[in-house]
Amino acid sequence: MKVKIVGTGRCVPSNVVTNDMLSTFLDTSDQWIYSRTGIKQRYISTGESNSQLCIEAAKKALKNANLNGKDIDLIIVATITPDKVTPATACLVQSAIGASSAMAFDISAACSGFVYGINIASQFINSKAYNNALIIGGEVLSKILDWQDRSICVLFGDGAGAAILSRSEEDCIKSIECVSVGEKSDCLTCDGLELKNIYVPHQEEFSNNISMNGKEIFRFAVRVIENSIERILNENNLTFDDIDYVIPHQANSRIIEAVIKAKGYDKEKFYMNMSQYGNTSAASIPIALDELNKNGLLKEGMKLILIGFGGGLTYGSALINWKK
Ligand code: UT7
Repeated sequence: MKVKIVGTGRCVPSNVVTNDMLSTFLDTSDQWIYSRTGIKQRYISTGESNSQLCIEAAKKALKNANLNGKDIDLIIVATITPDKVTPATACLVQSAIGASSAMAFDISAACSGFVYGINIASQFINSKAYNNALIIGGEVLSKILDWQDRSICVLFGDGAGAAILSRSEEDCIKSIECVSVGEKSDCLTCDGLELKNIYVPHQEEFSNNISMNGKEIFRFAVRVIENSIERILNENNLTFDDIDYVIPHQANSRIIEAVIKAKGYDKEKFYMNMSQYGNTSAASIPIALDELNKNGLLKEGMKLILIGFGGGLTYGSALINWKK
């Protein structure tokens, strides 16, 4: 599609929580968490809301793109942890950046949300309906974790990442595919609002924390990463040598290492930063993309593969020709 990424940004809460800090109140250890997941620390909100993180990431992406809020005509926030049921987080971002003529809405596709957002926005830009879109993955997952459950709460972190998409002369976003596998919806769940009305009394047992089948998602994720890379290489007549970076969702380094081992891919090409952030769901890919961009690792013409996977179950992948 004739769409390119022209700016990126990220924002995380100020509070860093190390594995050792978790082991002061959970039966866990830095050794277990790091060896099973590659995670060393994560950022956990002590007051920053999802919309505040998204707004800050958006402002940085605008600055990076040399655009201002008025230039943005589409805002999509991918999140499973919005501040409010309504308004959408995207509307709060819209107001804060002054994108007064934009269409703004949230999408729920868990850890695949950012790639889903890129897909939706690219269709609108490619069809010339809109010129500049702001896509944000933002989460405050710490709101939906059981902090007594060591098998879940050690894995996740809070944060937001943003990217701005604009029209391009060349096809810079290629082979984008987003798939949902609803029959596996039980693998990762978090209840929404309680059914509570004059006919249904409050349920004492009601809880809205994440629960998941980690092993099943692990296998699903390995398969998704392997198949997505192969599909993209085949569709574009490329070999893995032509790819500069793969940016997978940052759930667990062992998922990525399993792909590398099975396929013999060069490990250096797989960008990993879960050691610092943990799993930030929809935010993980745009945070990683922004790190690559701001650290000067992306050069014009580079080929990047983005791959998201997670709750739904959902997955999504795309080939990006980097051209700012
Ligand atoms: O964003 C997408 C959504 N999620 C994912 O992508 C997650 C994908 N799955 C995974 O990353 C891994 O399956 C986990 C990290 C969640 C779990 O790793 P695992 O190697 O599958 O461990 P396990 O669940 O089989 O647990 C092994 C042992 C158990 O003890 P027993 O039954 O062997 O005695 C657990 O109770 O490790 C225990 N355990 C822990 N021990 C210390 C589980 N969590 C912890 C912990 N600290 N935090």
